[in-house]
Amino acid sequence: MSNVGVIGCGLMGAGIVQVAAQAGHSVLFVEASDELVKRGLGRLRETLEGLAAKGKLEAKAKDDTIGRIAGTTRLEDLKACDLVIEAMTENQALKNETFAKLDRICGPQAILATNTSSCNVTAMAAATKRPGRVVGMHFFNPVPLMKLVEVVRTILTDDAVARTVTEFVRGVGKVPVQTKDATAFIVNRLLVPYLLDAIRVYEGGLASLEDIDAAMKLGCGYPMGPFTLLDLVGLDTAMYVAEVMFEEFREPRYAPPPLLKRMVMAGHLGRKTGRGFYTYDAK
Ligand code: 3HC
Repeated sequence: MSNVGVIGCGLMGAGIVQVAAQAGHSVLFVEASDELVKRGLGRLRETLEGLAAKGKLEAKAKDDTIGRIAGTTRLEDLKACDLVIEAMTENQALKNETFAKLDRICGPQAILATNTSSCNVTAMAAATKRPGRVVGMHFFNPVPLMKLVEVVRTILTDDAVARTVTEFVRGVGKVPVQTKDATAFIVNRLLVPYLLDAIRVYEGGLASLEDIDAAMKLGCGYPMGPFTLLDLVGLDTAMYVAEVMFEEFREPRYAPPPLLKRMVMAGHLGRKTGRGFYTYDAK
């Protein structure tokens, strides 16, 4: 996997670009405009320089990593990639369309992966003429710090492709787990109902946000309470995943609670907008 493509350089995409480049891969990311390419490159450089300044990355490794990262606005520039990881916003139709385009652009041996947390990987595979070479590769937020990657196989994925992707995941210093393409995979299937329940007990007046967070953090040893985590993940993302899960399983506990919907309508999406359950300063 010498040449890796990443589509999207947002929260997740940038993390994937960083870990792949730090592991020695040449990475080309695609963004929607020149401005977003510039911003993505700037943020990655800033992160890597910050790690070097703290002594967590040697100066040469930092420079080499920066040298391995490039950005473009043209999907066609991914034609030489051995592996493309799609990390766009969660929109099934857009993802299917992008996979159909990638199938025409990339060489026949290229593996096409998606970082989706809730879209249907089988539908993306079926949009291509290489369904055996399409797989899910689900990273967790924040990507550079979270060790897990869910390797998602559809009923069409070739064994060899799943093995190659699993090796790639190990190579970038992550721990792979294998899961089938069933909505929300392992982590979100268990995590999302917990987060939704936390919102419901808060809506019901059981306790304050701070006390619910402190209870789960200190009582269960979780690194973050549910509201801090919701703000980190993004309330729009949490709601989208919940809606897809509800659509798939028709379980009332997967339905987004009224408060979550209203916060998303109000634009209170969490850390990324400066306000979610908590308020964050611009930095
Ligand atoms: N690359 C490498 N290192 C980085 C970095 C980067 N981009 N950004 C920060 N770091 C380093 C910092 O320099 C810092 O190092 P230092 O302590 O030596 O200065 C260290 O990482 C992190 O420092 P923090 O004090 O912020 O870290 P914490 O110890 O508080 O841990 C956490 C942060 C890992 C985020 C922890 O709170 C945690 O595990 N939280 C839970 C996160 C979680 O559950 N994520 C999954 C969400 S669900 C999901 O993503 C699925 C999706 O589909 C919805």
